[in-house]
Order: sequence, then structure tokens, then C-alpha cells
Amino acid sequence: MPSSADAASVVSTPLAREARVVTPSARLCDSYRKLVAEFVDGGEKLIPFVLGFDHADFDAMLARLADCARGIGLPDGFVAHSTYWLVDDRERVVGVSNIRHALTPSLLREGGHIGYGIRPSARGRGLGSEILRQSLSRAHDLDIGDVLVTCGQANVASAKVIIGNGGVLESEAFVPDRDEIVQRYWIRRGAVARSKG
Ligand SMILES: CC(C)(COP(=O)(O)OP(=O)(O)OC[C@H]1O[C@@H](n2cnc3c(N)ncnc32)[C@H](O)[C@@H]1OP(=O)(O)O)[C@@H](O)C(=O)NCCC(=O)NCCS
Repeated sequence: MPSSADAASVVSTPLAREARVVTPSARLCDSYRKLVAEFVDGGEKLIPFVLGFDHADFDAMLARLADCARGIGLPDGFVAHSTYWLVDDRERVVGVSNIRHALTPSLLREGGHIGYGIRPSARGRGLGSEILRQSLSRAHDLDIGDVLVTCGQANVASAKVIIGNGGVLESEAFVPDRDEIVQRYWIRRGAVARSKG
């Protein structure tokens, strides 16, 4: 059964600045599952990729995420990565971010340090900008200096999120695996996010 706070779409999302990123937790199980369901039902690509982790056994998924952050049990070529959930003032998971602790040659080309996604019903209210803003702070806590963020050239909303957080376009190139042009932005440590007033 959906919790009452989650039954409606996130129409009444409060100001983005009231949302905060937290470590994944069992108490947010129902809400997290609804977020994933919205991506799946909408036929959307699961971004960040950890949205694809099997959550049937929720505790096992939480343990897997914790292991990933410690660099345990990773597939070949993967670096340690930390996942955070953006939670609004009604305890709904409205976004997910994933921070790669280091760049591999592949991530340097596309993927970068941080991937993020906002629950479809909660978009267009500043939460994308907010999850990246707070994730940059977490990245700095992880001793990541300058942060690379990439996005598809056609992903106008994501490009605005990145630029609003101080991102400077370094390059763009066609990536055959994605069949699209991917933009690469660097956010220098200490860059100030554009104020939303
Ligand atoms: C990209 C994404 C995170 C943006 O989230 P969001 O909560 O809608 O973003 P915001 O509300 O903070 O909007 C950011 C900017 O994009 C603009 N925007 C939002 N939706 C837009 C759209 N469909 N087309 C054009 N601009 C759009 C907003 O007006 C805002 O512009 P501003 O900074 O000039 O005010 C969200 O669309 C998403 O989760 N997409 C799927 C996953 C994904 O693409 N992740 C990024 C991977 S690089």
C-alpha cells in the first residue's frame, strides 16, 4: 500500500531548498520503490544507474550500496561510488544521486563524477539543481576536487542544472555507445552556484 504522503504525485513539493540529501535508509523503502516505479512506468532510462539495483530484498540492496561506497564487490573497471537520496519535507524520496570517487578513462570520457535523477512527478521545481548542489558538497567531503559532470547535448534541463551549479563546458563529442553527442562540464571546486533568489 502506498503511504498517504506518497499516494499523490509530488505536486505539492516544497521549495527545493527544504530538500536534503541523505544516506539510503530502510525507513524510506516505500517511497524509494515508488520513485523507481515512476522511472520504469514512464519508460525512462534508469539514471543514475544504481536505480537498476534489485530492491526486492531492500536490506540487501542497502548493503550493496554501502559496499559500493567502500569499494567492495565492484565489477571490473568500477571505482567506489556513493549513493544519496534527496528527501523532501514530507519524507518522500524525490531524487537519487551517485558519486564516483575517482575517474576512470571511461568515466573521463562520459559519466563523470556525479549522476543524478529526479522523480518524474517532481521535476521542474528546482530539485535537479538542488540535488547537484548538495552532491557537490558531498563530493568535496570525499576529497574530490574539481568535479566532472556529463550530459547528453539534448538534455537541456540537465545542462541548465550543471551550468547553474558553476559547470563550464569543456568539450562535446559523439559517443557511439549512447548514439548521441555528450557534453562534458567541469565544476571547479569553490565555484558558486547561481542563486535562485
Ligand atoms: C535532468 C533532471 C535531473 C532535471 O531535474 P529538474 O528537477 O527538472 O531540474 P530543475 O527543476 O532544477 O530545472 C533545472 C533547469 O532546467 C529547466 N528545465 C526543467 N525541465 C526542462 C525541460 N524539460 N526543458 C528545458 N528546460 C527544462 C528549468 O527551467 C531550470 O532552468 P533554470 O536553471 O534556468 O531555472 C531531470 O529532468 C531528470 O531526472 N532527468 C532524467 C535523468 C537525467 O537526465 N539525469 C541527468 C543525467 S546527466
